[in-house]
Amino acid sequence: TKNIGIGMAGFGTVGTGVWETIQRNGSLISNRAKGAFSLSIIKAAVRDITKKRIDDAPADLFTTDWQEVVRHPEVDIVVELIGGTTTAFDIVAEAIKLKKPVVTGNKALLAERGKELFALSKQYDTPIHFEAAVAGGIPVIKAVQDSYVGNRIETMSGIINGTSNYILERMTNAGLDYLEALKEAQDLGYAEADPALDVNGWDAAHKAILLATLAYGFSVDPEQVYVRGIERVRTIDIDFATKLGYAVKLLSVVRQHSDGSVELRTQPSFIAKSHILSSVNGVFNAVAVRGDASGEALFYGRGAGKEPTASSVVADLVEAAYTFVHTAGHRGFLPYSESGQLRPIEETETSYYVR
Ligand code: NDP
Ligand code: HSE
Repeated sequence: TKNIGIGMAGFGTVGTGVWETIQRNGSLISNRAKGAFSLSIIKAAVRDITKKRIDDAPADLFTTDWQEVVRHPEVDIVVELIGGTTTAFDIVAEAIKLKKPVVTGNKALLAERGKELFALSKQYDTPIHFEAAVAGGIPVIKAVQDSYVGNRIETMSGIINGTSNYILERMTNAGLDYLEALKEAQDLGYAEADPALDVNGWDAAHKAILLATLAYGFSVDPEQVYVRGIERVRTIDIDFATKLGYAVKLLSVVRQHSDGSVELRTQPSFIAKSHILSSVNGVFNAVAVRGDASGEALFYGRGAGKEPTASSVVADLVEAAYTFVHTAGHRGFLPYSESGQLRPIEETETSYYVR
């Protein structure tokens, strides 16, 4: 079994989730890889080293110097979870130059400065994985990148900011005002360090830019994107929409027109109550992807928060880890365990209800 060393830059909401998920499911992951590798977090950079984060942290896990993490000889993969577009850029660039694969959830960084980073990634033949950057725990990046590779993508549209969706729902159903609802979303770990990005539409727009870049292969200049946030949505607007049979949602749309041009927009939108997107509530996200061969599919799930986002980070870590073990047979050949068994269905439980 090869031990794959992970270096974390950032150990806040998502970083803590990644640690806990690997602690809880590390053996399961290793078994699924048929013992080819195990994952262990070697070093983690934070700002405040005195903060209590986890119970079982080794004494030397934390540092305030991200270079110590990236350059650590036992660190094979670097996870960037500090956010922002400056230090995060330096961390990702440095890791790539050391030929250490990067995993990040930082959509602002990739949407604003992805052009430079993806060029470096190509130059150094070292990947950047970013499933967590779009729609939290929903595997939409891998879907677009892998499952839809044989399609021309016609549209990708949906709700891709959990915080603003949570705020809109709390304003609609709990009668909270905008600031109270935002405070709840922050306390739940959904909001960005700078929550302005959530409510002014830019977090969703960054994600839409990444989807567009994935689908159409050109880098999008954020300044040219149409973005409106939810800051000016008031309870009276929501009440009005409800009376007319609509819900108000922050919708992002990526659509390729017949002349090849790509429409990209994020804005509060009226969604008919009969439309499936109108019932995507709280922290949930949904992305409808339509390919010319596949037709439309809807990806739905938790779009933010510690554990769902950690799920996507860990998936990327596993994908990166496979590149260190050059044995394709370790992946995708089931079964990996001898011990599973089916639970028999009793006569008394043959009815099944979905409520
Ligand atoms: P947090 O603010 O909870 O955590 C940020 C972490 O980075 C903290 O541990 C902080 O240290 C550390 N940090 C910040 N600056 C530095 C620095 N210069 N050097 C060393 N450490 C630093 O953020 P989240 O975990 O919520 O988000 C992290 C990333 O993941 C962001 O890019 C965000 O957009 C993305 N993301 C977040 C989601 C969510 O639901 N929260 C969902 C999807 C993506 P300290 O703890 O000491 O302050
Ligand atoms: N702040 C983001 C949101 C986190 O609320 O959707 C997930 O990217």
